[in-house]
Amino acid sequence: MTDLLTIEGLRTEFPGERRPFAAVDGVSIAVARGKTLGIVGESGCGKSMLSLSVMRLVPAPGRITAGRVMFDGQDLLKLPTSAMRDLRGRRIAIIFQEPMTSLNPAYTVGDQIMEAMKAHDKKGRNFRARAAAALDRVRIPAPDRRLDEYPHQMSGGMRQRVMIAMALSCAPDLLIADEPTTALDVTVQAQILDLLRDLQAQTGMAIVLITHDLGVVAEMADEVAVMYSGRVVERASAAALFDDPQHPYTLGLLGSVPRLEEKRDRLLAIEGSVPSAAALPPGCRFHPRCVFGAPACTAEQPPLRGLAPQHEAACIRAPVEALAA
Ligand SMILES: Nc1ncnc2c1ncn2[C@@H]1O[C@H](COP(=O)(O)OP(=O)(O)OP(=O)(O)O)[C@@H](O)[C@H]1O
Ligand code: SF4
Ligand SMILES: [Mg+2]
Repeated sequence: MTDLLTIEGLRTEFPGERRPFAAVDGVSIAVARGKTLGIVGESGCGKSMLSLSVMRLVPAPGRITAGRVMFDGQDLLKLPTSAMRDLRGRRIAIIFQEPMTSLNPAYTVGDQIMEAMKAHDKKGRNFRARAAAALDRVRIPAPDRRLDEYPHQMSGGMRQRVMIAMALSCAPDLLIADEPTTALDVTVQAQILDLLRDLQAQTGMAIVLITHDLGVVAEMADEVAVMYSGRVVERASAAALFDDPQHPYTLGLLGSVPRLEEKRDRLLAIEGSVPSAAALPPGCRFHPRCVFGAPACTAEQPPLRGLAPQHEAACIRAPVEALAA
Protein backbone atom coordinates (compact mmCIF):
# COMPACT_ATOMS: atom_id res chain seq x y z
CA MET A 1 0.00 0.00 0.00
CA THR A 2 1.40 3.38 -0.91
CA ASP A 3 1.61 6.12 1.65
CA LEU A 4 -0.92 8.94 1.54
CA LEU A 5 1.66 11.61 2.31
CA THR A 6 5.38 11.41 1.68
CA ILE A 7 7.59 14.34 2.58
CA GLU A 8 11.09 14.27 1.15
CA GLY A 9 13.94 16.59 2.04
CA LEU A 10 11.61 19.43 2.97
CA ARG A 11 13.34 22.66 3.86
CA THR A 12 11.65 25.87 5.01
CA GLU A 13 13.80 28.92 5.55
CA PHE A 14 13.46 32.29 7.19
CA PRO A 15 15.82 35.20 6.63
CA GLY A 16 18.21 35.53 9.56
CA GLU A 17 20.45 38.31 10.72
CA ARG A 18 23.49 37.02 8.90
CA ARG A 19 22.12 34.16 6.83
CA PRO A 20 18.84 32.33 6.40
CA PHE A 21 17.95 29.69 8.95
CA ALA A 22 15.99 26.55 8.26
CA ALA A 23 13.02 26.11 10.61
CA VAL A 24 12.45 22.82 8.77
CA ASP A 25 15.80 21.42 7.75
CA GLY A 26 15.61 18.50 5.35
CA VAL A 27 12.69 16.56 6.82
CA SER A 28 11.58 13.26 5.30
CA ILE A 29 8.58 11.40 6.70
CA ALA A 30 5.63 9.35 5.45
CA VAL A 31 2.05 8.93 6.60
CA ALA A 32 0.14 5.77 5.68
CA ARG A 33 -3.54 5.93 4.74
CA GLY A 34 -5.78 5.66 7.75
CA LYS A 35 -2.87 5.71 10.20
CA THR A 36 -1.57 8.22 12.71
CA LEU A 37 1.89 9.72 12.60
CA GLY A 38 2.90 11.40 15.84
CA ILE A 39 5.42 14.24 15.62
CA VAL A 40 7.09 15.08 18.92
CA GLY A 41 9.75 17.47 20.08
CA GLU A 42 10.23 20.42 22.38
CA SER A 43 9.01 23.91 21.65
CA GLY A 44 10.73 25.49 18.66
CA CYS A 45 11.80 22.23 17.00
CA GLY A 46 9.83 23.03 13.85
CA LYS A 47 6.71 20.90 14.30
CA SER A 48 4.24 23.63 13.41
CA MET A 49 6.40 24.97 10.62
CA LEU A 50 6.50 21.48 9.13
CA SER A 51 2.70 21.22 9.13
CA LEU A 52 2.29 24.75 7.76
CA SER A 53 4.77 23.85 5.02
CA VAL A 54 2.68 20.83 4.02
CA MET A 55 -0.34 23.12 3.77
CA ARG A 56 1.75 25.78 1.97
CA LEU A 57 0.77 28.24 4.67
CA VAL A 58 4.27 29.27 5.77
CA PRO A 59 4.05 32.87 7.03
CA ALA A 60 6.11 35.40 5.04
CA PRO A 61 9.01 36.03 4.86
CA GLY A 62 9.47 32.30 5.39
CA ARG A 63 9.49 30.10 2.31
CA ILE A 64 9.96 26.51 1.25
CA THR A 65 13.30 26.21 -0.49
CA ALA A 66 13.66 22.49 -1.17
CA GLY A 67 11.94 19.14 -1.07
CA ARG A 68 8.78 17.40 -2.18
CA VAL A 69 5.43 16.95 -0.49
CA MET A 70 3.77 14.05 -2.29
CA PHE A 71 0.10 13.76 -1.40
CA ASP A 72 -1.88 11.00 -3.06
CA GLY A 73 0.46 10.98 -6.04
CA GLN A 74 0.91 14.73 -6.62
CA ASP A 75 3.58 17.13 -5.41
CA LEU A 76 1.74 19.80 -3.44
CA LEU A 77 4.66 22.17 -3.86
CA LYS A 78 4.05 22.17 -7.62
CA LEU A 79 0.29 22.65 -7.55
CA PRO A 80 -1.10 25.96 -8.83
CA THR A 81 -2.26 28.19 -5.97
CA SER A 82 -5.93 27.72 -6.88
CA ALA A 83 -5.66 23.93 -6.84
CA MET A 84 -3.85 24.10 -3.50
CA ARG A 85 -6.58 26.31 -2.07
CA ASP A 86 -9.21 23.84 -3.21
CA LEU A 87 -7.32 20.93 -1.71
CA ARG A 88 -6.87 22.66 1.63
CA GLY A 89 -9.82 21.91 3.87
CA ARG A 90 -11.30 19.48 1.37
CA ARG A 91 -8.58 16.82 1.34
CA ILE A 92 -6.21 18.00 4.07
CA ALA A 93 -7.60 19.79 7.10
CA ILE A 94 -5.72 21.31 10.01
CA ILE A 95 -6.69 22.09 13.58
CA PHE A 96 -4.65 24.09 16.06
CA GLN A 97 -4.07 24.21 19.78
CA GLU A 98 -6.20 27.22 20.62
CA PRO A 99 -9.57 27.14 18.88
CA MET A 100 -10.33 30.67 20.03
CA THR A 101 -7.76 32.01 17.59
CA SER A 102 -9.21 29.99 14.72
CA LEU A 103 -12.87 30.67 15.44
CA ASN A 104 -14.19 34.13 14.69
CA PRO A 105 -15.71 35.59 17.89
CA ALA A 106 -18.15 37.71 15.87
CA TYR A 107 -20.04 34.81 14.26
CA THR A 108 -22.02 31.93 15.67
CA VAL A 109 -20.40 28.51 15.45
CA GLY A 110 -23.23 27.46 13.11
CA ASP A 111 -22.40 30.25 10.66
CA GLN A 112 -18.75 29.28 10.74
CA ILE A 113 -19.38 25.59 10.16
CA MET A 114 -21.76 26.37 7.31
CA GLU A 115 -19.20 28.76 5.82
CA ALA A 116 -16.57 26.01 5.89
CA MET A 117 -19.00 23.65 4.17
CA LYS A 118 -19.98 26.17 1.51
CA ALA A 119 -16.36 26.92 0.68
CA HIS A 120 -16.07 23.52 -1.00
CA ASP A 121 -19.67 22.84 -1.91
CA LYS A 122 -21.19 25.89 -3.53
CA LYS A 123 -24.32 24.17 -4.79
CA GLY A 124 -25.05 22.18 -1.66
CA ARG A 125 -28.24 22.43 0.39
CA ASN A 126 -29.50 21.83 3.89
CA PHE A 127 -26.40 23.41 5.35
CA ARG A 128 -27.99 23.99 8.73
CA ALA A 129 -29.06 20.39 9.14
CA ARG A 130 -25.64 19.25 7.98
CA ALA A 131 -23.94 21.59 10.42
CA ALA A 132 -26.07 20.20 13.25
CA ALA A 133 -25.15 16.68 12.15
CA ALA A 134 -21.48 17.69 12.17
CA LEU A 135 -21.79 18.86 15.79
CA ASP A 136 -23.62 15.69 16.70
CA ARG A 137 -20.78 13.64 15.23
CA VAL A 138 -18.30 15.31 17.57
CA ARG A 139 -20.66 14.51 20.45
CA ILE A 140 -21.90 17.99 21.19
CA PRO A 141 -25.26 17.64 22.94
CA ALA A 142 -28.28 19.62 21.66
CA PRO A 143 -26.44 20.43 18.42
CA ASP A 144 -29.23 22.44 16.85
CA ARG A 145 -29.30 24.89 19.75
CA ARG A 146 -25.50 25.05 19.92
CA LEU A 147 -25.33 26.24 16.31
CA ASP A 148 -26.63 29.62 17.43
CA GLU A 149 -24.02 30.10 20.14
CA TYR A 150 -20.93 32.25 19.84
CA PRO A 151 -17.49 30.75 20.51
CA HIS A 152 -17.11 32.57 23.85
CA GLN A 153 -20.26 30.87 25.13
CA MET A 154 -18.54 27.51 24.85
CA SER A 155 -15.88 25.79 26.96
CA GLY A 156 -12.41 25.16 25.51
CA GLY A 157 -13.24 21.50 24.97
CA MET A 158 -16.48 22.35 23.15
CA ARG A 159 -14.65 24.84 20.95
CA GLN A 160 -12.09 22.22 20.03
CA ARG A 161 -14.97 19.88 19.11
CA VAL A 162 -16.36 22.62 16.88
CA MET A 163 -12.96 22.96 15.20
CA ILE A 164 -12.86 19.22 14.63
CA ALA A 165 -16.40 19.30 13.24
CA MET A 166 -15.38 22.07 10.82
CA ALA A 167 -12.20 20.29 9.83
CA LEU A 168 -14.06 17.05 9.13
CA SER A 169 -17.04 18.64 7.39
CA CYS A 170 -15.51 17.94 3.97
CA ALA A 171 -14.34 14.42 4.89
CA PRO A 172 -10.59 15.05 4.43
CA ASP A 173 -8.18 12.19 3.77
CA LEU A 174 -5.68 13.73 6.15
CA LEU A 175 -6.16 15.67 9.35
CA ILE A 176 -3.21 17.60 10.74
CA ALA A 177 -3.78 18.23 14.43
CA ASP A 178 -1.23 20.65 15.90
CA GLU A 179 -1.27 20.28 19.69
CA PRO A 180 -5.06 19.76 19.61
CA THR A 181 -5.38 19.07 23.32
CA THR A 182 -2.52 21.01 24.88
CA ALA A 183 -4.74 23.85 26.13
CA LEU A 184 -7.28 21.47 27.69
CA ASP A 185 -7.42 19.83 31.08
CA VAL A 186 -6.58 16.13 31.27
CA THR A 187 -10.15 14.80 31.33
CA VAL A 188 -11.23 16.87 28.35
CA GLN A 189 -7.97 16.01 26.61
CA ALA A 190 -8.74 12.30 26.95
CA GLN A 191 -12.25 12.84 25.57
CA ILE A 192 -10.97 14.72 22.53
CA LEU A 193 -8.34 12.07 21.81
CA ASP A 194 -11.02 9.37 22.10
CA LEU A 195 -13.18 11.31 19.72
CA LEU A 196 -10.37 11.67 17.18
CA ARG A 197 -9.69 7.96 17.35
CA ASP A 198 -13.37 7.09 16.83
CA LEU A 199 -13.69 9.51 13.94
CA GLN A 200 -10.59 8.04 12.39
CA ALA A 201 -12.04 4.52 12.69
CA GLN A 202 -15.29 5.71 11.06
CA THR A 203 -13.75 7.71 8.23
CA GLY A 204 -10.41 6.04 7.57
CA MET A 205 -8.64 9.38 7.55
CA ALA A 206 -4.95 9.60 8.29
CA ILE A 207 -3.81 11.88 11.13
CA VAL A 208 -0.61 13.79 11.70
CA LEU A 209 -0.66 14.47 15.41
CA ILE A 210 1.76 17.10 16.63
CA THR A 211 2.44 17.18 20.33
CA HIS A 212 5.16 17.69 22.89
CA ASP A 213 3.44 15.08 25.04
CA LEU A 214 4.79 11.55 24.64
CA GLY A 215 1.83 10.21 26.60
CA VAL A 216 -0.45 11.42 23.82
CA VAL A 217 1.80 9.82 21.23
CA ALA A 218 1.80 6.52 23.10
CA GLU A 219 -1.97 6.54 23.10
CA MET A 220 -2.61 7.66 19.55
CA ALA A 221 0.26 7.11 17.12
CA ASP A 222 1.14 4.19 14.88
CA GLU A 223 4.39 5.78 13.75
CA VAL A 224 6.45 8.51 15.39
CA ALA A 225 8.92 11.11 14.18
CA VAL A 226 10.98 12.87 16.84
CA MET A 227 12.10 16.36 15.81
CA TYR A 228 14.99 18.37 17.16
CA SER A 229 16.13 21.74 15.85
CA GLY A 230 14.26 21.46 12.55
CA ARG A 231 15.32 17.90 11.82
CA VAL A 232 13.90 14.44 12.35
CA VAL A 233 16.30 12.67 14.72
CA GLU A 234 14.39 9.42 15.18
CA ARG A 235 11.73 7.64 13.18
CA ALA A 236 10.05 4.42 14.30
CA SER A 237 6.80 2.66 15.02
CA ALA A 238 5.31 3.87 18.29
CA ALA A 239 5.94 0.44 19.82
CA ALA A 240 9.62 0.45 18.84
CA LEU A 241 10.12 4.04 19.94
CA PHE A 242 8.84 3.36 23.44
CA ASP A 243 10.36 -0.10 23.84
CA ASP A 244 13.67 0.60 22.26
CA PRO A 245 14.39 4.32 21.86
CA GLN A 246 17.68 4.95 20.09
CA HIS A 247 18.39 8.67 19.94
CA PRO A 248 19.70 10.27 23.14
CA TYR A 249 17.20 13.10 22.66
CA THR A 250 14.33 10.61 22.61
CA LEU A 251 15.77 8.98 25.72
CA GLY A 252 15.74 12.36 27.39
CA LEU A 253 12.14 13.04 26.37
CA LEU A 254 11.08 9.64 27.66
CA GLY A 255 12.77 10.40 30.94
CA SER A 256 10.15 13.03 31.57
CA VAL A 257 7.14 10.77 30.99
CA PRO A 258 5.87 9.61 34.38
CA ARG A 259 4.27 6.42 33.04
CA LEU A 260 7.65 5.20 31.95
CA GLU A 261 8.89 5.47 35.49
CA GLU A 262 10.63 2.13 35.39
CA LYS A 263 12.99 3.41 32.73
CA ARG A 264 13.82 6.58 34.53
CA ASP A 265 16.95 5.33 36.21
CA ARG A 266 18.54 4.94 32.82
CA LEU A 267 17.02 7.91 31.11
CA LEU A 268 18.07 11.33 32.12
CA ALA A 269 15.96 14.43 31.92
CA ILE A 270 17.44 16.75 29.35
CA GLU A 271 19.22 19.79 30.62
CA GLY A 272 19.55 22.93 28.55
CA SER A 273 17.35 24.02 25.71
CA VAL A 274 16.83 23.82 21.96
CA PRO A 275 19.58 25.87 20.27
CA SER A 276 18.52 29.20 18.85
CA ALA A 277 18.54 29.53 15.10
CA ALA A 278 21.22 32.19 15.32
CA ALA A 279 23.63 29.95 17.22
CA LEU A 280 23.37 26.43 15.92
CA PRO A 281 26.13 24.21 17.29
CA PRO A 282 28.37 22.48 14.74
CA GLY A 283 27.86 18.79 14.07
CA CYS A 284 25.05 17.10 15.94
CA ARG A 285 22.82 19.91 17.17
CA PHE A 286 21.98 17.95 20.28
CA HIS A 287 25.59 17.60 21.42
CA PRO A 288 25.63 20.49 23.91
CA ARG A 289 22.89 18.65 25.82
CA CYS A 290 23.81 15.08 25.09
CA VAL A 291 25.09 12.96 27.96
CA PHE A 292 26.62 10.55 25.43
CA GLY A 293 28.38 13.21 23.37
CA ALA A 294 31.92 12.54 22.14
CA PRO A 295 34.40 14.76 20.25
CA ALA A 296 33.39 13.15 16.94
CA CYS A 297 29.82 14.39 17.47
CA THR A 298 30.80 17.95 16.59
CA ALA A 299 32.22 17.00 13.19
CA GLU A 300 29.09 16.80 11.09
CA GLN A 301 25.32 16.51 11.35
CA PRO A 302 24.50 12.82 11.64
CA PRO A 303 22.03 11.62 9.00
CA LEU A 304 19.18 9.25 9.85
CA ARG A 305 20.52 5.72 9.83
CA GLY A 306 18.61 2.42 9.89
CA LEU A 307 19.16 0.49 13.13
CA ALA A 308 16.38 -2.05 12.69
CA PRO A 309 13.68 -2.50 10.07
CA GLN A 310 11.58 0.70 10.03
CA HIS A 311 13.64 2.22 12.81
CA GLU A 312 16.10 5.04 12.17
CA ALA A 313 18.02 7.47 14.33
CA ALA A 314 20.36 10.35 13.55
CA CYS A 315 23.13 9.62 16.04
CA ILE A 316 26.67 8.52 15.25
CA ARG A 317 26.85 6.56 18.49
CA ALA A 318 23.58 4.62 18.14
CA PRO A 319 22.56 1.92 18.90
CA VAL A 320 22.32 3.31 22.33
CA GLU A 321 22.36 0.08 24.38
CA ALA A 322 26.13 0.08 24.29
CA LEU A 323 26.22 3.61 25.67
CA ALA A 324 23.64 3.29 28.43
CA ALA A 325 25.09 0.11 29.89
N1 LIG B 1 6.78 33.59 11.71
C1 LIG B 1 8.03 33.20 12.00
N2 LIG B 1 9.10 33.95 11.61
C2 LIG B 1 10.36 33.56 11.88
N3 LIG B 1 10.67 32.43 12.52
C3 LIG B 1 9.67 31.65 12.93
C4 LIG B 1 8.30 32.00 12.70
N4 LIG B 1 7.53 31.02 13.24
C5 LIG B 1 8.38 30.13 13.78
N5 LIG B 1 9.65 30.50 13.60
C6 LIG B 1 10.84 29.78 14.05
O1 LIG B 1 10.83 28.50 13.46
C7 LIG B 1 11.30 27.53 14.36
C8 LIG B 1 10.28 26.43 14.50
O2 LIG B 1 9.10 26.94 15.09
P1 LIG B 1 7.77 26.09 15.24
O3 LIG B 1 6.69 27.04 15.58
O4 LIG B 1 7.58 25.24 14.03
O5 LIG B 1 8.12 25.17 16.49
P2 LIG B 1 7.19 24.11 17.23
O6 LIG B 1 7.95 22.83 17.27
O7 LIG B 1 5.84 24.07 16.61
O8 LIG B 1 7.12 24.71 18.70
P3 LIG B 1 5.89 24.73 19.74
O9 LIG B 1 5.93 23.39 20.43
O10 LIG B 1 6.25 25.85 20.64
O11 LIG B 1 4.61 24.96 18.99
C9 LIG B 1 11.60 28.25 15.65
O12 LIG B 1 12.97 28.53 15.67
C10 LIG B 1 10.81 29.53 15.55
O13 LIG B 1 11.42 30.56 16.24
S1 SF4 C 1 25.61 12.16 17.65
FE1 SF4 C 1 26.68 12.38 19.60
S2 SF4 C 1 25.87 14.29 20.50
FE2 SF4 C 1 24.48 13.66 18.86
S3 SF4 C 1 22.94 12.47 19.87
FE3 SF4 C 1 24.45 11.00 19.18
S4 SF4 C 1 25.88 10.76 20.92
FE4 SF4 C 1 24.66 12.61 21.31
MG1 LIG D 1 3.95 24.52 17.29
